[in-house]
Parts: sequence; C-alpha cells; structure tokens
Amino acid sequence: MKLINETSLFPLRKGRITRQAHVDLPEGTYEEEFARQGFFGRTTHLYRTHPTTAWSRIEGPLRPRSYDLNKVDPATDASMLGSREPAFSPVCILRNEDVALHWVSPGAMDFLYRNADGDDLYFIHAGGGRLETTFGVLEYTQGDYLVLPRGTTYRFLPASGPQAYLLIESAGELTIPDRNQLGPNALFDPAMIDTPELEPPSGPDREWAVHIKRRNEITRVFYPFNPNDVVGWKGDLTVWRINVKDIRPVMSPRYHLPPSAHSTFLGRNFVVCSFLPRPFEEEEGAMRVPFYHSNIDYDEVLFYSSGHFFSREGIGPGMVTWHPQGIHHGPHPKAIPASRLKDRTDEVAVMVDTVHPLEATAAAEAVENPDYWSSWK
Ligand SMILES: [Fe+2]
Repeated sequence: MKLINETSLFPLRKGRITRQAHVDLPEGTYEEEFARQGFFGRTTHLYRTHPTTAWSRIEGPLRPRSYDLNKVDPATDASMLGSREPAFSPVCILRNEDVALHWVSPGAMDFLYRNADGDDLYFIHAGGGRLETTFGVLEYTQGDYLVLPRGTTYRFLPASGPQAYLLIESAGELTIPDRNQLGPNALFDPAMIDTPELEPPSGPDREWAVHIKRRNEITRVFYPFNPNDVVGWKGDLTVWRINVKDIRPVMSPRYHLPPSAHSTFLGRNFVVCSFLPRPFEEEEGAMRVPFYHSNIDYDEVLFYSSGHFFSREGIGPGMVTWHPQGIHHGPHPKAIPASRLKDRTDEVAVMVDTVHPLEATAAAEAVENPDYWSSWK
C-alpha cells in the first residue's frame, strides 16, 4: 500500500512563502529545498534569512569537499582498480559499492583490457584518439561519453597531446533514462548514437595479453593472435558514443528545473547528469541558480570540464566537488546577483549522484582543496 501521495496538492504552509517554488522569493530570503529522494520525493521549501552555507566553522568529518584532478599523479597507487600499467592505470578518487570514479590518462596500450566488475563509462575531458573494442573501432574526442558494457575487451590508442578522462565505473548495468512526456527524441535522438565500425585487428601478429579485472585484481590471459577478431555482430548490447554537443538540454524560461531534468545515464543506485550550455531563465522573478539543499538521500559529485561555472567561484576545469548527504550546499554568494547579469551559461559539467555514501581515496585526499568548505563566506 502506498502511504505517500507523490503529488500532494495541498501542502501545509506557515509564514512568508512563495506559492510557486523557485519563483518570486519573499524579499530578503534564501530558499532551501528540504526534500527526499533527490528532487522527486516529499518536499518542503524553507525561506530563510541567511544562506545555510554561511557557517563560521565545522568540527568533524562531514563537509563539502573539492579536489583538483589536474594535480593527480598518474603514478599514484591505483590498486583500487587493479591495473598498474603505465599505459593504463586509472586513479580511483571516490567510490562506493555501486560506482567508482577514476581519473585516467592513458598512453598507447600494447595490451587489451576487460573489466569484469562493471560497465565503464568514460567522459573525455581532454584528448582523443582511437578506441579498439570487441565490436570494432571508434574514434573519440573531447566531450565524448564512451559506454563500454561489462566484459568488453578494449584498448585506447590516444592521439598525441594531453589525455584526461573521467571514468565512471558502474557495478550495475548502465541505461539511459526514460524521456517520459518529452518523447523518445528529446535530449538526444537515439540516431545520434555512434557504434564501432568493424576493421581487421590492428597491430602486429604476435602474442597479445588481455588484462581482465575481476574483484579489482588483474589476470592476464595470453593469445597467439589479437583476440579482437570479430568479423560480424548483431544485437543491442554494444559499445556506443555520444558527444555532449549532441545532447540538447531542456530548460524553462520561467522555472529553474531540478538537476534530474539533465539526467543522461542511470546506474544501480546512481545517476549521471550533464550540465551543458543553455540560456538562463528569462522571467524576472525566476531563480537562475540552484536553490540551497542538502540532498539528504544522495551524495552529489560534480566534475567541471569547461566553460564558466556560474554557481561556483574558484572552481576550474578538471576539478571535482563532492557534497555528501546531510550538509548543505548551494550557489556561492556572488553567484546569485552575477546570474542576473548574464543570459546564458557555457558550462560543461558531469554530475554523479549516489544513493549510498561515497568514500574518498588517499589519491583524492592528496589533491584536496582543504579550504573549500569556507568558500561560501
Ligand atoms: Fe546539489
């Protein structure tokens, strides 16, 4: 039996409020969304006289965190992922039992890799090249998402220049969210998805190793030929690619949509959203920056890739913020008036929201910005 009416039409109200959330806030107030299940469950809006992030100090481990992945040493002990090869040694930053975020700067791999622990979703922050897989070859470039189902055998052959990829490793199967009323061609048309093209195996005829990761340990299986030797395939389980330029965000000129409107992938107990260049809300009273919240049922991770991050000062490309469940976050103080001076945002950012609390690794702690918690002052 369902005890909660999911679209309660008659919420309770006390004191000074706006009847339409995120629009025409009472003079001198800051709106907080106090809500369950991300932005989907029961919700109350609180109108406060101070931002909830205007704390003077924090004692204890719970706090907003930020990490500069540009400073990650690729030689860091990456034992969480098992691979210590110079050409492919992802460095784990944050993880729980459903998802692990890694920072990867691959070189040309002279071996093949297979993840038997989960699906691999790459976001290409910088660089590009050629990806050889069980299903054929895909060229890739900056802004691409690459989806590699668990068990795919692959290797990167990056072009010259710096390579920096965010790897979101998913223990469960990755899918794309239902578009509901937006229809099947919204956000991106499925026809924009690219899949690999079959080519004869590349590289010399020699012994090839497949490095298989299972339970974060590597086993090497050797073949006297290149085992990516598929000459035909049919079916709906394959490697695929979509570039963020081909994702068309929805927005409303009169209402600040919740992050869930920007969902790109669903995993088990987590969601991946893409925040992409888009116009701001037009109506004078409509909020243009996110409301304050503590997102009590999700940990929230944002990876900033390019553009100007309108709601966060002091955050640049290649940085990550992590807002754990239970402590507030929201726009930086200058972001609210600044958002009124601009018509659009050019940000490209990837958000990962997780149901279960994440844990930061030693590699993340080594590149932490320790003052981030006080950046709202
Ligand atoms: Fe948030």
